[in-house]
Amino acid sequence: MTAEQLAALKADVQGKYEELKSRNLKLDLTRGKPSTEQLDICAGLLSLPGENYKDADGTDCRNYGNLIGLNSIREIWAEVLGVSKDNLIAADSSSLNIMFDLISWSYIWGNNDSERPWKDEEKVKWLCPVPGYDRHFTITEHFGFEMITVPMTPTGPDMDKVEELVKDPQIKGMWVVPMFGNPTGVTFTRETIDRLINMETGAPDFRIVWDNAYAIHTLTEEFPEIVDVVSEGGNRFWAMSSTSKITQAGAGVAFFNSSNENLNWYNKHAFVRGIGPNKINQLAHAQFFGDAEGVKRIMQLHAKSLAPKFDKVLEILDARLAEYGIAEWTKPVGGYFISLDVVPGTASRVVELAKDAGIALTAAGSTYPLKADPEDKNLRLAPSLPPVEELEIAMDGVATCVLLAALEK
Ligand SMILES: Cc1ncc(COP(=O)(O)O)c(C=O)c1O
Repeated sequence: MTAEQLAALKADVQGKYEELKSRNLKLDLTRGKPSTEQLDICAGLLSLPGENYKDADGTDCRNYGNLIGLNSIREIWAEVLGVSKDNLIAADSSSLNIMFDLISWSYIWGNNDSERPWKDEEKVKWLCPVPGYDRHFTITEHFGFEMITVPMTPTGPDMDKVEELVKDPQIKGMWVVPMFGNPTGVTFTRETIDRLINMETGAPDFRIVWDNAYAIHTLTEEFPEIVDVVSEGGNRFWAMSSTSKITQAGAGVAFFNSSNENLNWYNKHAFVRGIGPNKINQLAHAQFFGDAEGVKRIMQLHAKSLAPKFDKVLEILDARLAEYGIAEWTKPVGGYFISLDVVPGTASRVVELAKDAGIALTAAGSTYPLKADPEDKNLRLAPSLPPVEELEIAMDGVATCVLLAALEK
């Protein structure tokens, strides 16, 4: 564009922005929460298990015990994931809690392959594919680990870099969201997974936190294959998942899948921490799901609710921004997020402009360790919560802010 064309465009976009501000909006695109419509899909759970409080094997779910969780829900979930039930624990509601415990216990006592507790290491380093999930990074920040970023690619983390870095024995682990990842929507290819399984690590107690939070969260009718990394990868993988975005967020069931040795180590500590999980909720889930197919049927209802929202966001980004070549975004077929890269140095400004216009976006930098995006360019869009009409208004506003920030720059 010539200087005049740029000035004219800026005046036009500035006008659109002033008009946006005058609408006094109050819209929220911050967190990837399920919408009310989605939560209603599993409303039937609230009246279960009723008087029917015994599991098929006779376990009275009202009482203490059963540290590894109810048989029936473990059976269903093992089939959903395609893993061995013997290597699967059903826990309380949050997979994030399990991740925190694993790192915390490794820090205090070391894990089953550690030479010493991680707290006694001179330094602990952790690999963080970016952009990634903010709450992962917050955990490793909390323990004072040095976080080393690795770029995400359309096939998974940059494996050449990962293979090189993990030779360092101070690197004790790595965060990953292997399917429909947060926030890119990327699903790791089989080649990436094989390299993660086979790579040589300097630390004998190296662990990959395989956070399969979105394993079955498709936006289409296709469910991608879930690779059983635990049976192929020995002690390297700590794999978790939960029903947070299937049934009830914060009141579902979380699962931990790992090798026998890892589970024995985990249970040794879990047994001291508590007497057993909430089996009433586990039973309610088992009854509500019925079987693995029942879980997939629920996921198809979620997809029906979510897909039009993702389509709308992508349609607006395309219509408003594509022609200028100032932004790039992912086009996920599953998960909860769209990752948007704007002109470097303007992501914080976009968030600020949107906030002033009454549109809350996830803080710039959130997808990076220490909330520091070195290029200040990545934004995470979460389309799930608002109704589609509100989403349309909010995204059109966001597009205006992206353009305006680019023009200012
Ligand atoms: C990648 C990822 N892992 C874990 C969670 C939280 O899971 P839970 O509710 O089981 O703690 C989220 C929620 O946004 C997530 O995006």
